Amino acid sequence: MGDGTGGVTAAAAQALPRLIEEWLPVQELGIEARRENSTGQHPPPNRLHVWWARRPLVVSRAAVLASLLPAWRPDLPAPLRERFPTREAYHAWFRWLLGIHGDPVAARARIAEADARGQRLGREAYGYGRAFTFSPDQDALMLLGQIFRHAFGTGELTVLDPTAGGGSIPLEAIRLGLTVHANELNPVAAVVLAATLDYPARFGEALADDIRQWGDRLLALVRSQLRPFFPDPEGGVLDGYLWARTVACPQTGKPIPLSPNWWLQRDDRGRAAARLLAHPDWPACRFEIVYGTAADRAAEQGTIRRGVAVSPWTGEVVDDEYVKREAQGGRMGQQLYAVVVKTPQGVDFRLPTEADLAAAAAAEAELARRLPAWLARDIVPDEEIPEVSNDPRPRLYGMTRWRDLFAPRQLLALGATVEALRALEPELRDALPPDRARAVLTYLALAVDKLADYNSRMARWHSRRGVITNTFDRHDFSMKWSFAEMAVVAAGKGLDWAVDQVVDAYRGIARLAQPARLPLWQRAGASPVERLRVTQGDARRLAHLADGSVHLVCIDPPYYDNVQYGELSDFFYVWLKRTAGRCYPEWFAAPLADKDNEAVANPARFAGLGRRSRDLARQDYERKLEAIFQECHRVLRADGVLTVMFTHKQVDAWDALAMALVRAGFQITASWPVHTESEHSLHQAKKNAAQSTILLACRKRPAGDGPVWWDDLRGELARRVRERATELAALGIGGVDLFLAAYGPALAVISARWPVLLSETDPQTGQPRELRPETALDLARREVLSLRRERLLHGQRARFDHETDWYLLAWDTFKAVEFPADEARKLALAVGLDLDEDVIRRARLVQRKGSTVALLTPAERRRRGVVDPAASAFPRLVDAVHTAMLVYEEDGPGACGAFLRRAGLLQHADFRQCLQALLEAVPRARRPDGRFLRPEAEGLERLRQAFFPEIEPPAEPEPVVAPRQLAFPGAEDEADEDETGEEQE
Ligand SMILES: C[S@@+](CC[C@H](N)C(=O)[O-])C[C@H]1O[C@@H](n2cnc3c(N)ncnc32)[C@H](O)[C@@H]1O
Repeated sequence: MGDGTGGVTAAAAQALPRLIEEWLPVQELGIEARRENSTGQHPPPNRLHVWWARRPLVVSRAAVLASLLPAWRPDLPAPLRERFPTREAYHAWFRWLLGIHGDPVAARARIAEADARGQRLGREAYGYGRAFTFSPDQDALMLLGQIFRHAFGTGELTVLDPTAGGGSIPLEAIRLGLTVHANELNPVAAVVLAATLDYPARFGEALADDIRQWGDRLLALVRSQLRPFFPDPEGGVLDGYLWARTVACPQTGKPIPLSPNWWLQRDDRGRAAARLLAHPDWPACRFEIVYGTAADRAAEQGTIRRGVAVSPWTGEVVDDEYVKREAQGGRMGQQLYAVVVKTPQGVDFRLPTEADLAAAAAAEAELARRLPAWLARDIVPDEEIPEVSNDPRPRLYGMTRWRDLFAPRQLLALGATVEALRALEPELRDALPPDRARAVLTYLALAVDKLADYNSRMARWHSRRGVITNTFDRHDFSMKWSFAEMAVVAAGKGLDWAVDQVVDAYRGIARLAQPARLPLWQRAGASPVERLRVTQGDARRLAHLADGSVHLVCIDPPYYDNVQYGELSDFFYVWLKRTAGRCYPEWFAAPLADKDNEAVANPARFAGLGRRSRDLARQDYERKLEAIFQECHRVLRADGVLTVMFTHKQVDAWDALAMALVRAGFQITASWPVHTESEHSLHQAKKNAAQSTILLACRKRPAGDGPVWWDDLRGELARRVRERATELAALGIGGVDLFLAAYGPALAVISARWPVLLSETDPQTGQPRELRPETALDLARREVLSLRRERLLHGQRARFDHETDWYLLAWDTFKAVEFPADEARKLALAVGLDLDEDVIRRARLVQRKGSTVALLTPAERRRRGVVDPAASAFPRLVDAVHTAMLVYEEDGPGACGAFLRRAGLLQHADFRQCLQALLEAVPRARRPDGRFLRPEAEGLERLRQAFFPEIEPPAEPEPVVAPRQLAFPGAEDEADEDETGEEQE
């Protein structure tokens, strides 16, 4: 080779371990991933358009880079050995390429310490910018090319992301100067991919000016039509309108304005709310705006909770069925209750004036006038919201067509914008070269989407932040009883704002991709555009890619049932079809997004099959995933790596993923848990999203020696899981994430030996059954449990009853009072119990709350002979500990001492060990006043201090946190519900 690094054959490259197969800086990556989405602005691609479950850029870059770079070896060719004399030097360079230009672990520790002291350290604590903002420069890309030539015999490497979504993986691959294929089934995501990958690479930052210029033209056209419908307020700039949906009071027939609360403002500047007034003589409720303590009272006088309303006219409860009936009968109305105005001092609120009401009425009349023509010309979406759906709420509340998600003036504004865009299109196409015109039209279409997202009946007013939040601030179609409407034509608001946002995001993306556009690649004879192909289609068939043509497949497939992309995306699809769809007609030929080919577990597609629908959805997911992986296998080179990003708390999801991988001919060679999500988890967490993303590196499995028996693998699997879990626990990985992290090594063991057979035979075939990965995952889970138990007991041996074990491990694993019932069940199975019979009915350790369970406090568990101050013998250790806590709480330390002596617990070794283990397991987060957040932690600590002072308190108390942080992500977040005014139906 010309550069003197030497080349290798494919077979040798197969043997060369990749960096990801040996090492990954998971702690640093986790911190950077959380920093990416929590500090300051979101990364530019996230701001361009909604796409669900976007992966952090820094993790995507790490996955791509570590899957292509060889692991360090002492026999590197001379020039590379000089540059990387040690493994550490190589790893340091890798970190630097990722943009980790300091010590994020130390910075995090400093921030946590400061938090504990009640101080806030700013971003400066890190001493460098967020990792994703760093783009490797030409020198770095040259060096990378040199290493690739050494490892692969060529510097021109090809990466495929078959399910590219919002494009984190391909964007990072472009930034590394690689040749990239990004494929996606969903046309909305495909447009987002074109806008994130293709146009910024093709046109660079300069295109931003074109978008702004044509955006201004669009704005002028829309303004000229809509001005009269948005009267200017006095003394400020119109910001928005706040509406409540209404139903008629069953007794009086007068409208009930529906809202779970009436907060307008809750921030440092003060508190304001709308106070609802109902006088028997009035035909409709009135409002006044109140501040301070009056606001506190007024805000909480909500009129609806969990779908059940209260009539302010009679004080009577109005049941949810009535509300739904009214809505479905087309009798749900809306009432304007406040107008938001921006003043030099900040946001202010006032009551609607006659002019406001007249303008809204005029807009409604104007819509009625224009709608028939708009429907005829296909300007506004008239498609039905599918009846087959996992989220029936829009239809339950009478919204049967996509346009029903918009209030009259909202729809008028959107229709006028689409119409204006169409009117502008010929002129735009005349003025710009075809590709550039297409690009500008695409971004203007994305601005229309942004307007729809922030200006629908599902957009709400965020009283803490003083802003309108978007339709998809949650990953669903939850009913919003009260909603916010944008001042569409105000300067800096509405459409102006939407265009600005798109332009700003575009500029940001173009800057991220900029260095990869520089001369290096032009010298190599290819521009970034030639190095990139975005396709829309099913990942099960990538006909444009030849067999064995790809060096790396980096895939982030749908996580089982976490997000129903197709269903959610229809909200945008119906608008994009009418805007950008004209640039990509072949992508938008269908009425709605494709759900049939989507690789998600979608029970709604099998509705009507009763209890089997979930099983069928799972089988369907598994089959599709397997076919996708088979296609990956086909296009991947013999020495290629398939890196999968995956996360889900449910074993079912992992079972399906693993089965699909092994059946497609892959084996897992390494796995890494990256703690990507912050504790303030998104709504998707409700659906069992975990806080870690697991990266699985896979290789094509060489032909094996035939089946192996599961019984022969169990020992090895247990050992490997234990070793890996011990390593990862030392890196600070705990709770549910530790279980997930253990799945990787378990799957590595079985996938390397596949097929694995059970000793039992299948009654139908008479042959031994094939192992389901689930069995291996269960064994991994049990190994981790026993490891955790040993840690909690500081390596001491103690025998607790099963229920005490369960209680202890529940605290240790979930670190929260409430967690998913399904997880509770698996934990019960792992310690030899039945959740319903043993844990809930007999021991009453938890109570069910829908799909979750909540741990009960000692007082809630009080029962004769169980948690009973009069007793001196207890069925379970946890009962004895709870009774001691209860006596202390109710009667003080003296009575507690007497109780402990009487029951012989002071010298009881198991009791003492149980207390010690619980002290470790129950989160010790404190309130700002220094008290523990959880009463259990308070109670345990009191017992320790008063009677067992020799027990060391857990070494590192957790920093002060806001109470919400303690809710396990799977649990319903009441606080959020109050704030958002959203409710689950
Ligand atoms: C987890 S998301 C990818 C997110 C992406 N990595 C990002 O950071 O934005 C999974 C994607 O797979 C897509 N998908 C589902 N089924 C597919 C199929 N059969 N072919 C191609 N893409 C599919 C979904 O539309 C979704 O965008």
